[in-house]
Amino acid sequence: MRAVQCQPVTSQPIWLMRQAGRYMIEYQRVREKVSFLELCKRPELAAEVMLTAVQRLGVDAAILFSDILLILEPMGFQLEFAAEGGPKIGNPIRQPDDVDRVRELSAVEPLHFVMDAVRYTREGLDGTKPLIGFAGAPFTLAAYMVEGGSSRNFQQVKAFMHLYPAKWHDLMRRIALSTARYLNGQIDAGVQIVQIFDSWVGCVSDEDYKKYVLPYSKMLIDLILPGTPIIHFAPGNPMLLPRVRDAGGHVIGIDWRIALDKAWEMIGHDRAIQGNLDPAILFTDRDTIRHHAQHIIRLAERQPGFVFNLGSGIMPQTPVDNVIALVDIVHELGQMR
Ligand code: CP3
Repeated sequence: MRAVQCQPVTSQPIWLMRQAGRYMIEYQRVREKVSFLELCKRPELAAEVMLTAVQRLGVDAAILFSDILLILEPMGFQLEFAAEGGPKIGNPIRQPDDVDRVRELSAVEPLHFVMDAVRYTREGLDGTKPLIGFAGAPFTLAAYMVEGGSSRNFQQVKAFMHLYPAKWHDLMRRIALSTARYLNGQIDAGVQIVQIFDSWVGCVSDEDYKKYVLPYSKMLIDLILPGTPIIHFAPGNPMLLPRVRDAGGHVIGIDWRIALDKAWEMIGHDRAIQGNLDPAILFTDRDTIRHHAQHIIRLAERQPGFVFNLGSGIMPQTPVDNVIALVDIVHELGQMR
């Protein structure tokens, strides 16, 4: 909590995106019995999955066990997680007028299971570690709504944005307002920090970010209840970082494509930073992990406001012992004098 507020800490905090997931045997066992979507909708089980991961790894924060795409259902989309190929949206936006059927979330009631998962996770954590809530950023959610699933080139969403700017702005506004309501619901239920994932925004140009993305990320961030620290994670294209900062967030999440000290110069030292180990490093060995972790900690040492994390989520095949090793190494190297 001190690090996200740019205050000095006595020990370097670390948590990991996708810290609960398929790389863990405990998670695989739960998933043998329930589908991913079902797991997200069973708050006691979702809380248990997250608490197990937090305990096993010894990380300093928990993130809600959920998904950025759950909000799509109450907004009028059919959502499925296929065993292969990831998320699938059954009725994506294909025509400009399809935007008219996108429902703005007027209450968090349809996502009550998320709010219940927040309460159960907070109870399980018993005040020992903060709980991070999260949502997708408007661009990343719009990308799923238009592409209908994961994408490599994002040509459909980008073409839509350029061909139908008025509909695009309408869509982005609906998403920003819905997401603000959703995150404020999570805050009311007890999350202590929120993270906004703009996972795919690195595919747009600086000009397009400014015109088509920034106003809505900013709208969302400005609508979040004051007093809750916001982590704004926008990986993929470090050249966008000054604009990402302008959109807002107390903490800017970065990936490994830029060195941490360089990113801090671009963002400004009035913000905290979260990142940025390449998750591929977790496929090496203890010495290599230590070397890379040490490098990052050194670059961050000169000022308060650093949260150690990966530059993106832990990958499914990652050896769990290497993840545990990383957490231990960061705690050992990050003892402040
Ligand atoms: O970090 C955590 O442990 C908390 C839970 C969490 C999940 N997804 C669980 C999940 C969080 C924070 C997310 C965010 C998310 N979801 C993002 C942003 C991630 C980033 O790094 O920027 C995105 C793009 C999604 C959408 C999504 N959900 C995809 C593309 C997939 C399929 C990916 C894959 O590896 O198959 C999911 C499924 C998903 N979300 C799983 C988990 C644990 C795997 C589900 C399973 O098969 O058990």
